[in-house]
Amino acid sequence: MIHENLKSFPNDFLWGAASAAYQVEGAWNVDGKEKSIWDTFVRVPGKTFKGTNGDVAVDHYHRYKEDVQLMAEMGMKTYRFSVAWTRIFPHGKGEVNQEGIDFYNHLIDELRKHYIEPILTIYHWDLPQALQDAYGGWESKQIVEDFQNYSISLFKAFGDRVKYWVSLNEQNIFTRLGYQTAMHPPGEKDDKLYYQVNHHASLANAAAIKAFRKYVPDGKIGPSFAYSPAYAKTSKPEDVLAADNAEEFTSHWWMDVYAWGEYPQVAWNYLTRNGIAPRIEKEDLELLKAGKPDFMGINYYQTTTYEKNPLNGVTLDGHFNTTGEKGTMEDTGLPGVYKTVTNDNLERTNWDWNIDPQGLRIGIRRVTNRYQLPILISENGLGEYDKVEDDDSIQDDYRIEYIRTHLKAIQEAITDGAEMIGYCVWSFTDLLSWLNGYQKRYGLVYVNQHEEGEHDLRRIRKKSFYWYKDVIASNGENL
Ligand code: BG6
Repeated sequence: MIHENLKSFPNDFLWGAASAAYQVEGAWNVDGKEKSIWDTFVRVPGKTFKGTNGDVAVDHYHRYKEDVQLMAEMGMKTYRFSVAWTRIFPHGKGEVNQEGIDFYNHLIDELRKHYIEPILTIYHWDLPQALQDAYGGWESKQIVEDFQNYSISLFKAFGDRVKYWVSLNEQNIFTRLGYQTAMHPPGEKDDKLYYQVNHHASLANAAAIKAFRKYVPDGKIGPSFAYSPAYAKTSKPEDVLAADNAEEFTSHWWMDVYAWGEYPQVAWNYLTRNGIAPRIEKEDLELLKAGKPDFMGINYYQTTTYEKNPLNGVTLDGHFNTTGEKGTMEDTGLPGVYKTVTNDNLERTNWDWNIDPQGLRIGIRRVTNRYQLPILISENGLGEYDKVEDDDSIQDDYRIEYIRTHLKAIQEAITDGAEMIGYCVWSFTDLLSWLNGYQKRYGLVYVNQHEEGEHDLRRIRKKSFYWYKDVIASNGENL
């Protein structure tokens, strides 16, 4: 529907930006920190763009005060960051490393000093290598206990000052890329294992949330899910069915479990008939039901369009664009279930990601209707090339346009009736884009860090920094 007037953003709307430990901190082996699976993976030749890694990243570990100062200058209400498990437990479990706790204490205190609400992500993909070596990490049910213990340590250390928590970041992405396409660590391609790993991660998520109620009774917690709403390519019933399948296999499979503790039936039956359904014990379902979130965190970047995929059709092996050469992304699919297809109605970025603000409104409405939970947009942003002009400015009007139209879509969803907690731009500073190096930039603040050569890591406010500052100051009136 077209609204004549839009509702205002709520007065307590959390305007913010986000990051993740591995992508910003650097200091990969200092103050007791040991290796995560990413520290290992980036050293395997050919895995990341031009062999980039997060050894230094943007050195947030040493420059966090300067970064928080910039956040304060922008008037940010919230900052979402993740804790590196290997700083707290260098080997995944055992003795707490006090130096790791100290770092996050300092960061949290610095944020609060500037009235910036911390949103703490417990897990953003950097599993301790020691746990991967000991029992295959997410492959073993042992991870549930270890993740819960790690989470409890964070609740005890920071729960007095941190009230918003994200449990797992994008379980659907780290498992798919880790166990179906082998693009992320541990680099496996095994469908049965993929679903088992997911089951363990869902249990770990629920176990952490269950414990949270005891340790941080006045806090709020939820997962961050990478939601890409499914569109059908045409109104042909077989394409509509493919989109329906995709919604179930790429979204409900996780969000139903988070919200209801139940797996969706169509996907469950398909997996059972193909012999790849996860092993589930009776007490598992009780745990899943006991770990309900307070909100659904949604990381939204784009919609995906689907059509019918024959039984001998494309698989998930299609090429993924990590170089920024537009037009190199290939379609992927599950034979007999769905196949992705280019949506000619949408513009794409240089990394072939669709730009679709209305898709965000559609996604928010779907999640609201299905789960009746408040929503935190825990990530949304544009990865693009940025150019530093001769006068040291960065004229990123394309990023402003991206964020502006997505915020408008949120305002429309609020007018539709959705309950929105806040919005985190991905990302605050430029950072390491996992497989895409440093040239794919997301930040409101530019960081002089590149794939090759020596760089001074200095911070430069982009045009989008000043624009977002004004949006926050006007509580979204000046969009
Ligand atoms: C999300 C992740 O998948 O998207 C972030 O939570 C990531 O960590 C972001 O950086 C953008 O993806 P990419 O691959 O462009 O860095």
